Amino acid sequence: MKFTFAASPASTPDAIAFAIPKDGLENSALGLEQEGLVRKAAKAARFEGKTGQTFQTFITEGDAVVQVILTGTGKGNRKDNEAAGGAVVAKLIASGVKHLAIHPSGLDQERLARLLFGAKLRSWRIDKYRTTMPENAKQTLTEITVLDTDMESAKIWQDLSAVADGVALTRELVSEPANIIYPESFVERCQELQSMGVEITILGQEEMEQLGMGALLGVSQGSVRPPRMLAMRWDGTNGAQKKPLALVGKGVTFDTGGISLKPPGGMEDMKWDMGGAGAVAGTMKALAGRKANAHVVGVCGLVENMPDGNAQRPGDVVTSMSGQTIEVINTDAEGRLVLCDALHWTQETFEPEMVVNLATLTGAIIVSLGNEHAGCFCNDDGLSDTLLAAGTTSGDPLWRFPLTAAYDKQINSPIADMKNVGGKGAGSITAAQFLQRFIQDGVKWAHLDIAGMVWADKPGPVWDKGATGFGVRLLDQFVADNFEQ
Ligand code: BES
Ligand code: MN
Ligand code: ZN
Repeated sequence: MKFTFAASPASTPDAIAFAIPKDGLENSALGLEQEGLVRKAAKAARFEGKTGQTFQTFITEGDAVVQVILTGTGKGNRKDNEAAGGAVVAKLIASGVKHLAIHPSGLDQERLARLLFGAKLRSWRIDKYRTTMPENAKQTLTEITVLDTDMESAKIWQDLSAVADGVALTRELVSEPANIIYPESFVERCQELQSMGVEITILGQEEMEQLGMGALLGVSQGSVRPPRMLAMRWDGTNGAQKKPLALVGKGVTFDTGGISLKPPGGMEDMKWDMGGAGAVAGTMKALAGRKANAHVVGVCGLVENMPDGNAQRPGDVVTSMSGQTIEVINTDAEGRLVLCDALHWTQETFEPEMVVNLATLTGAIIVSLGNEHAGCFCNDDGLSDTLLAAGTTSGDPLWRFPLTAAYDKQINSPIADMKNVGGKGAGSITAAQFLQRFIQDGVKWAHLDIAGMVWADKPGPVWDKGATGFGVRLLDQFVADNFEQ
């Protein structure tokens, strides 16, 4: 989607959008010859300006016939404005409208920027594999002219636009099938970040063998795709922030379950088992894109989990890079095996002050929270509070779960230091307890189980059905609130 900013559009737009707050129809000044008619028609159609509500009609303006779309901004909060922008795009993206003008509608810069952010987020889709898509389903809207010249250079819009670009990278990585995105090609897609000033380090299989990453490599050994560890470092502080914030993502580019094979129904969903790594990559793009004043390193543990003659077996004991040994009871509990080595390597290499890891780790978190919150597991109340707050403001919500010695005990193994599954209940918590065993003393750590949030079966306010890009807006907000003052 191309956004341009002008006092008036260069060519006649196919439609013009106005933002209307709840019950604000009467007092709206649209600047149209037939605005009285528009107001009457909207009222008759019960348009009240509720968040996400839209009203469309056609009027004449001079000799031209123009489509008018009103979009409700409700109470005018951040999420309302984002949803209003999203709603316009959702209505128009495949409507035949090619060029949309957005009227600033008296919104202040912050609110207008949020509306545009919602529009940009909602406009992302992936049609590249649909060669026989009917004409009337194809995207038509490709150009948005914002009837405001200040906005173009406004920092608030520049920054939000960069965040939307980060979200788009995450959605792309998540949506691509596993024959296209596998460890090597995931890394390849992240190379573009280098030109934005991100320093990239890649570990191949041999290096990981030398480092003793037996847990990650055990997962990978059933696949013909070689694993990768990808680190992306952004320092916008010029060295002032010595210890980085580390973001660590689970990047299982496909999870068959391995020898503990998953049932076939819905297995195709496991192409998005790299959603944690995708969110980390997208966040790094967002931070670099808006030149965030923070030092952040994003690490992705990338493997494919396949059944094969060389695959690991239930009962195998592997030695992680930390030296701790793990009895692999279930080869489908592979995410924690990948993350434990990624987490250990990250702490050894970058000495972060704080680590936040993201993973589509357990089906159990979907049983607990559905698709409304990601689970947050944290060893520090302050960190948890700031993450939850960033979740609420950003629109990527979190809910905290407990960690205790009683849960931890469930993963003791009779033959090794631990096993990779716990008892019957609390599957998300015992998975988090497993990860915590790899967090070094003094490191503040949070694990976000995002299994219910990465993929949506129906469209949301700022995403279409499919990949949501969950985590990018959250982490960007978290960095802005806690590292950039
Ligand atoms: N990637 C899955 C978790 C998952 C399930 C994500 C559904 C998204 C949707 C993970 O690797 C897994 O298989 N977890 C197992 C753990 C179990 C074997 C202890 C699970 O949740 O069933
Ligand atoms: Mn699994
Ligand atoms: Zn998995």
